[in-house]
Amino acid sequence: MDTAIVKKQAVEELALIEKAGDLALFEKKYLSKQGLIADIFKTLKDLPENKRKATGQQANKLKQELELLLKEKELRLVDAGKMAKESGKDFFDETQPGVMPEVGYLHLITQTQRQAESIFRGMGFELALGPEVETEWYNFDALNVAKDHPARDLQDTFWLKSCKSQFPISNFQFPNKEQKSNPQAQKLLLRTHTSSVQIRYMQSHQPPFRIIAPGRVFRNEATDQRHEAQFYQIEGLMVEKNISAANFKAIIEEFLSRYFEEKVEIRLRPGYFPFVEPGFEIDAKRSNGKWMELMGAGMVHPNVFKAVGIKGFTGFAFGCGLERLAMIKHNIPDLRFFYQSDLRFIKQF
Ligand code: PHE
Repeated sequence: MDTAIVKKQAVEELALIEKAGDLALFEKKYLSKQGLIADIFKTLKDLPENKRKATGQQANKLKQELELLLKEKELRLVDAGKMAKESGKDFFDETQPGVMPEVGYLHLITQTQRQAESIFRGMGFELALGPEVETEWYNFDALNVAKDHPARDLQDTFWLKSCKSQFPISNFQFPNKEQKSNPQAQKLLLRTHTSSVQIRYMQSHQPPFRIIAPGRVFRNEATDQRHEAQFYQIEGLMVEKNISAANFKAIIEEFLSRYFEEKVEIRLRPGYFPFVEPGFEIDAKRSNGKWMELMGAGMVHPNVFKAVGIKGFTGFAFGCGLERLAMIKHNIPDLRFFYQSDLRFIKQF
C-alpha cells in the first residue's frame, strides 16, 4: 500500500476520534505489528530494488509522524476531560471545583454538656463521674430517700437482676457495717439521677469542694414530648464552710446567664427532694419574659452528710436536665428529637 494513501486515511480518521478508548483501536490499526505500516514494511522485499529504500524511509517517517499525532490527540482528549469519562482510568482534573467531604457532628447533648462543663470550670467546679449501673444505696439510701418512697417503685426505676458479676462496679464502697450486711442495699439499678455521684464523691473527698457531674440517667417512664426513658442531667454540688442559698442563687444565675448568653433571672419555689432541706424548684426568666421551670436544687440534707461522714460544713446541690437546657435555648418542642438520630435535626446545631 502507498504510504501517502495510508497517511491521508490515518490523519482523517484521527481527526474524527473523540473518545480516548478509540485511540487504542487507531494505534492497533496503523502502528501495531499487525498494522498497516507494518504491512508496508512486510511488502518491501517484493518491491523492485530502486524503490525499496525510498519506500522504507517513507514508511519510517510516517510511523514517527503518526506516533506524534497520536500522542498529541491523546493529550488533547485529556485536556477536554474526556479521557476520565471514557477510559475509566483515574484522572484528576484540578481545575474542577472540589467536593466537600461529609464530616461528623457533635450531638447537641454533647455540645450542651461541654458548654455547661466549661462554664462551671470557669467558676472553680471540678468534674466528677460515677457509674450508670448503681446500687440502691448510692441512688436512694444514702440520699435519704425513704424505703417506701414511690421513686423506688418498679414503675420509676429500672432494677437489674443479679448481674453484679457481669458489671463490676468500680470503686464499690460501703461506708459502714450495717450497709455491708444489708443485702437490700446492694441491689443494682440504672441510676435514676446523677445525685448518686454526690455520694461517691463525698465518700472519697474532704470539703471544701465544688463539683459538677454530668451523665446519663434512666427512668422507667412512658415516652412523650417531655419524657424519655433515658436522658442527661448535670449535677452540681458545692460544700464549704457556711455555704448558703444565696451562694447557690448567685452561682446558678451566673451559669444560666453565660449559657443563654443574656441576663437570666431566677426564682426559687419550695420543692421537695429527700436529699435537700430546704429544697427548691428553680424557675428561670430569659429576656422574652417567660418563667420556665428548670431544675431541682436545695441545701444538702444533714442525713446525706451523715451517710458520708462529713461534719461541720454546709452545701448546696442541684440537678438539671441537659436536654431541657438545650430545648429552651434552641426552642426545641419535643424531647424525642434528641434520640431519633434524624440528621435533619442533628445537623442544625
Ligand atoms: N436529683 C433530682 C432529680 O433528678 C434533682 C436534684 C438534684 C434536686 C440535687 C435537688 C438537688 O430530679
